[in-house]
Amino acid sequence: MTGRIIGLGSYIPKKVVTNDDFAKFLDTSDEWITERTGIKERHIADHITEKPSTMAVEAAKKAIEDAGIDPSQIDLIVTACTTPDLVIPSMSCVVQEAIGATENCGCFDVNSACPGFVAAWNTVQSFIETGNSKYALCIGSECNSNFANFQDRGTCILFGDGAGAAVLKADGTAKPNQFIMRSSGARGGCLRCEAARQPDRWEEEGFKTATSFYMQGREVFKFAVTEVPQIIKDLSEKFSFDLENDVDLFILHQANARIIEATAKKLGIPRDRFPMNIMNYGNASSASIPMLLTQLKQEGKIKPGMKLVMASFGAGLTWDANYIVY
Ligand SMILES: CC(C)(COP(=O)(O)OP(=O)(O)OC[C@H]1O[C@@H](n2cnc3c(N)ncnc32)[C@H](O)[C@@H]1OP(=O)(O)O)[C@@H](O)C(=O)NCCC(=O)NCCS
Repeated sequence: MTGRIIGLGSYIPKKVVTNDDFAKFLDTSDEWITERTGIKERHIADHITEKPSTMAVEAAKKAIEDAGIDPSQIDLIVTACTTPDLVIPSMSCVVQEAIGATENCGCFDVNSACPGFVAAWNTVQSFIETGNSKYALCIGSECNSNFANFQDRGTCILFGDGAGAAVLKADGTAKPNQFIMRSSGARGGCLRCEAARQPDRWEEEGFKTATSFYMQGREVFKFAVTEVPQIIKDLSEKFSFDLENDVDLFILHQANARIIEATAKKLGIPRDRFPMNIMNYGNASSASIPMLLTQLKQEGKIKPGMKLVMASFGAGLTWDANYIVY
């Protein structure tokens, strides 16, 4: 048994922030951001009504509706999130309650930064392949704007908020989950965010109540344009498929259009096989891949039987690639 996508859904926050909006309070411009990143606008969550947990719920509801199943059939929920509104309970438990899944449904979250959705996917597939799940929800939900430093023009312009979800059904005819996951804790210092905590009366100074992303952009860029093409090549060798002839679309983490273009060039694959929506959503971390998959399905650009490579990268450092049949 392997999990096959039978439903997709996303939640996009209502508020749109354009590059020109940033230029009103930062020393930046639409021209600079567009040229260096491909981003024109991103959606920013309302911090009262659009939290990572509530966005995860909305995306999950849409994915279940798209799958045409009853929520009581869901027996596993794994949510990827790096920017949660809750430390406990897990967001997956919040989703379980909101969609009306039964108590026979296992729930937990994973944090693998931007590649979180792919990490959640591989976790869910392991449950399905060992006979421990028949219908699983795999979710990515992020409120990056909670952790962006809006005085740092090198990072805040990159990120957006949103959520995406997939329902996976155990399928005896599907090929096994084929993937490679890699990490480099030693290189983790170039992309970090410390946890916030409450001040306490035993400590007079040094506490932190606010925290934000720290990023060495150029280092992260070099890491991505080196490791992403390499892991995709390694994936094709490990599972004996041809990148030119055996892949319909390359679904990459939407972090920077130049990273995606450089990956296409290094692999020698036409750029039009790398769909992008970064221009409208920015980098939505672990939500970026399921948001893109949902959009492609709605636009009729992915159809059952199509062969996809999913690849992602981010803090950790972590990066991974999967070869799947949609
Ligand atoms: C962040 C990123 C867009 C910066 O682009 P870059 O071409 O590497 O630019 P640099 O950081 O070298 O900065 C070049 C100059 O632009 C300036 N700059 C940075 N952000 C700017 C902005 N928003 N507007 C205008 N100028 C900006 C820098 O201050 C620097 O100025 P200086 O030369 O006077 O010092 C790019 O490095 C990147 O996308 N990296 C990957 C980040 C990423 O994907 N992170 C998430 C991974 S999941």
